[in-house]
Amino acid sequence: MMILSGPSRREHKIGAMGKGLSYPEGLIDRLEVFWGVGFLSPGGREEVREILRNVRIQNKSVLDIGCGIAGPAIVIARDLGAKNVVGIDIEPQVIARAARNVSEAGLQNRVDLKLVEPGPLPFADASFDIVFSKDALIHIEDKPAFYNEIVRVLKPDGTFAASDWLASEDSGELPEFIDWIEMSPHDFAMQTMAQAEAVMCEAGFVDVTARDRNAWYVDLSLIELERMEGPLRERFLEVCEEEAYQQIVKVRRANAAAARCGGLRPTHLRGAGPTA
Ligand SMILES: C[S@@+](CC[C@H](N)C(=O)[O-])C[C@H]1O[C@@H](n2cnc3c(N)ncnc32)[C@H](O)[C@@H]1O
Repeated sequence: MMILSGPSRREHKIGAMGKGLSYPEGLIDRLEVFWGVGFLSPGGREEVREILRNVRIQNKSVLDIGCGIAGPAIVIARDLGAKNVVGIDIEPQVIARAARNVSEAGLQNRVDLKLVEPGPLPFADASFDIVFSKDALIHIEDKPAFYNEIVRVLKPDGTFAASDWLASEDSGELPEFIDWIEMSPHDFAMQTMAQAEAVMCEAGFVDVTARDRNAWYVDLSLIELERMEGPLRERFLEVCEEEAYQQIVKVRRANAAAARCGGLRPTHLRGAGPTA
């Protein structure tokens, strides 16, 4: 696994590995402009459905790890009919925004949000039918411990379904990938697909699958860039100054290039509990 953190990182935007806030309010405002209300990751409602394709959600209990500002949890409860969703995140301002979005969606009785410490999950064994996560595993350094915890809190016949931003085997040699890592405001702990599959199997999951979404993301990231620099520009300038707008365009351009060169590989991960 690569622990990646850029030398050009500014001190007030350091990552989720115990150093400070990764998703301050201003960044949340900007990310919502192009990823949609409730989302800190790409693809919106359709991508949540895609991660959970063919998983029975109706009347199930779901844990959403790294729930962000609750867009995915709202989709899982409202559109996919989960009995209840527990969303956990490590940043208080993120959980506060999530609570606002859940309340506006009128889902307070089915979506429960918890601020947690990184590390062991604060739930009893076999608490959930489904453990879900969208684009948060990239921030978690100790993957073996993390996957052991997921197996522990998942019912033995339950399902783990997630998306994660993985890196290609040769990403460390790709200048576009390195540029993006260096300019990103976050710390990342990225795995290759082989590493992700191995650590899941080691934790006890069966029927482990990994579905590469690089081609999907290459197309989407170009569309996002066109929208950012075109119709969405004015909306950005309602929530930030020109300088911050230019900076986020620069980071998104680098991110799109990291995907286009093949280094950045968003991937859907799936595993069944040990007795499924
Ligand atoms: C890219 S955002 C994705 C948020 C949300 N899943 C979405 O798709 O909109 C990653 C989230 O993971 C959270 N996070 C980082 N490390 C975490 C950890 N150890 N446990 C729980 N959440 C974590 C961050 O605070 C952030 O809200």
